[in-house]
Amino acid sequence: MTGILEGKKIIIMGVANKRSLAYGCFQALAEQGAQLILTYQNERMKRSIDKFIPEDVLEVECDVSEPENVKAAFDTIKATVGNVDGIIHAIAYADPEDLSGQTTDAGLESFEKAQAISVYSLISAAKYGREMMNEGGSIVTLTYMGSERAVPNYNIMGIAKAGLESTVRYLARDLAVQNIRVNAISAGAIKTLAVTGVKDYNKLIEISNERAVNGEGVTIREVGDTAAFLLSPLSTGVVGDVIYVDKGTHLM
Ligand SMILES: NC(=O)c1ccc[n+]([C@@H]2O[C@H](COP(=O)([O-])OP(=O)(O)OC[C@H]3O[C@@H](n4cnc5c(N)ncnc54)[C@H](O)[C@@H]3O)[C@@H](O)[C@H]2O)c1
Repeated sequence: MTGILEGKKIIIMGVANKRSLAYGCFQALAEQGAQLILTYQNERMKRSIDKFIPEDVLEVECDVSEPENVKAAFDTIKATVGNVDGIIHAIAYADPEDLSGQTTDAGLESFEKAQAISVYSLISAAKYGREMMNEGGSIVTLTYMGSERAVPNYNIMGIAKAGLESTVRYLARDLAVQNIRVNAISAGAIKTLAVTGVKDYNKLIEISNERAVNGEGVTIREVGDTAAFLLSPLSTGVVGDVIYVDKGTHLM
């Protein structure tokens, strides 16, 4: 059977380890026939991913806190594999001390850092990605329901996710001239490295799973399968949208 991403080259940004949502995307996209390119934050992340990512996958360093790093990484990718057909952006960061207590505790500097890494990085990925993306391309980012609801301890990351979802809509409008689509997946809570930064994250995951329609949380693979759909020609009618992949948690 031919996969829905056969012949497509896709950049995945944000695999840290085997629990990463980006790794669920890696597995799903590979199964659908895509050629994958990874970007990683730093040497520590590279050592982590080298343990399980096949050797023939191109890996390029990219700390997104500086837009020029995104440009440099994408230049390297273009020089090595040529144009691409899609990007998965699975990156977010806030200082751990801002993921507890009250939103009023956060200072401007850490607020700006969270916005730069979690929101502006999508703008950078779109800005430099569009210059090397084939017509019909697709960009997918990962968001969370804390953008719409006041989730305990999520605080400035919730505000960042609201900005990210708005960014998706503006980019979708702007990149339409090149027939590039931009969408977000709002994933249910899953235990990953990023989530462990949120105070009482176990409780958050427990409550989230309880509210899933069948009492079971979503898996990284289920998130990845939806990402594969959004990157494929099967979803050409889905533009600038946020799709919940959370086993119905947001309904309850
Ligand atoms: N885990 C969840 O419950 C959940 C739910 C909804 C949305 N999300 C979102 O999914 C995305 C991926 O997170 P995850 O949960 O898989 O955790 P993760 O820790 O596995 O991935 C986060 C990634 O962000 C990268 N990153 C952080 N700062 C960076 C920087 N300056 N430059 C480059 N990369 C940087 C890390 O290296 C890591 O690979 C995030 O946007 C997160 O908010 C997660």
